[in-house]
Amino acid sequence: MHLARAALALCLSIVAACSTSDDASPPPTGLAEPDRAALARRLLTGPEWYRHAVVYEAYVRSLQDSNGDGVGDLPGLTSRLPELQALGVDALWLMPINPTPFADSGYDVADYTGVNPDYGTLADLDALLAAAHARGMRVMLDLVLNHTSDQHPWFQESRASRDNPKADWYVWSDTPSRADVGCGTFQAQFGAEAWTLSKARNQYYFHRFYPGQPDLNYRNPQVVKATLDAARFWLDRGVDGFRCDVIGLLVESADGCDMIPETQAYIRQLRALLDEYPDRAMVAESTNYETAVPYFGDGHDMFHMAFNFGFGYFWGFPFAGTEARAVSDKLEASRRGAPPGAQEALVIGSHDVSRAYVAAQKVPSRWRRAAFVQMTAAGTPFIYYGEELGLRPGKVKVVDSRDYQRTPMPWTRGPGHGFTTGTPWIPFGEGAEETSLEAEAGDPASDYAFYQRLLAARRGREAFGAGTMTFLHGDSPAVLAFERAGGGEAYLAVVSMDEAAPQTTRLSAVGGEGEPRLLFGAATAAREGDALVVTVPAEGMALFRLR
Ligand code: NOJ
Repeated sequence: MHLARAALALCLSIVAACSTSDDASPPPTGLAEPDRAALARRLLTGPEWYRHAVVYEAYVRSLQDSNGDGVGDLPGLTSRLPELQALGVDALWLMPINPTPFADSGYDVADYTGVNPDYGTLADLDALLAAAHARGMRVMLDLVLNHTSDQHPWFQESRASRDNPKADWYVWSDTPSRADVGCGTFQAQFGAEAWTLSKARNQYYFHRFYPGQPDLNYRNPQVVKATLDAARFWLDRGVDGFRCDVIGLLVESADGCDMIPETQAYIRQLRALLDEYPDRAMVAESTNYETAVPYFGDGHDMFHMAFNFGFGYFWGFPFAGTEARAVSDKLEASRRGAPPGAQEALVIGSHDVSRAYVAAQKVPSRWRRAAFVQMTAAGTPFIYYGEELGLRPGKVKVVDSRDYQRTPMPWTRGPGHGFTTGTPWIPFGEGAEETSLEAEAGDPASDYAFYQRLLAARRGREAFGAGTMTFLHGDSPAVLAFERAGGGEAYLAVVSMDEAAPQTTRLSAVGGEGEPRLLFGAATAAREGDALVVTVPAEGMALFRLR
């Protein structure tokens, strides 16, 4: 086992060395290469780190099992930090790690300040934080505040009678509706009525998700205090921030339940709490797929980041077409009206939606081009574990059909795929052998090698994390082109939406002087007067340094 891991580590470091070959050609006059490693260290230090980090969403249950019980755990994840860092990952977001009856894969929290015994102990989390921080990596936790598990002691108490001290900690009603809870009564995605009868109280409780996930009542100041205390507990332990689950849904009203002023006020309190600690950041799971703007407040008082799901969950459709505008419109729409400095979080998948492999209808260049946009457009990229391998879905569900995209990581070719020495909690996805890290790390044409080169190209370049983004519309409607500028440099990203023939486009108002320098991918670019003429191969993409 250890030998196999050592061999894999060696293999990874060889690919890492090869991956910088895109960068090895001598720079044209005037484009000297600074020390990118030193720049990356500087950009990833201090309060703005989250703009420059590449974040990796980890389902602890499926990352690495350390004790042979078939369930991934915190010590296992800690042992895989070298591989994740070799990929180019700077920060982790862990899906919920709290104790849970597992009605919603951990999004049903039974204890806000504990660790799920399947995953380890608080000491194991401390060890993960220490190991990550020693490598300059960060760890963010999922904070699930809208609801608890029905097994949480708060709910157990609340449901016991109508007059106990926590009777008002959840949203109760005599009937399966309430005039001041205007959120509908049926949760289609979770296949359940939104109100469930509790016999002890002979009242109904409100739940936006499964019946085992009662909504907390944020109109009760004790709930506000208790949940902020939970966040403080983890900040005191040294976590670097939070991914905040369906945070827009905290408070209900007659007119609606999404980011109403009372919810925004809570978010401001949460932000003020984070600001008491140095270098912490939080990202909102937006429930609005059109725009992330409501989550940013004035740019300083709410979220550091919010997911752009308009692109992140729907890119499969525009990439099945040939219109570059279909992508640029999605990227622009979400940001319209955002305060200065607002940072979107860019994804091409998550634990909630089909694997990128499925969204791309199994066409590799589609998920690769989408990932290229994710890494080069304005925002912070969040990679869902396994995307770097082109992981394919599973066929078995334990909790619900989202388990198809939550299968164990195949680290090696062999049985158990280096994930476990036992029986995995759920079978591996399709093609685990050829999509294993071991198989892909040795192949320069693999998804893994692609991701590693792409992340290396982004690294230490301020323009990507914090620069401006300007879309350029040339005469080929199939070429998506945008310029990123910042840190005294400028870059041009081009992507062809055409899968049949090369595309040539004439772009005007492109920054810089002299011939662009190709950093990643394949395309040609030449200045002609004031224009830049770019030719991109079918299904192609390229990143140029302009200045
Ligand atoms: C969003 C999470 O991403 C999803 O997995 C979960 O089921 C719901 N929130 C409820 O917590």
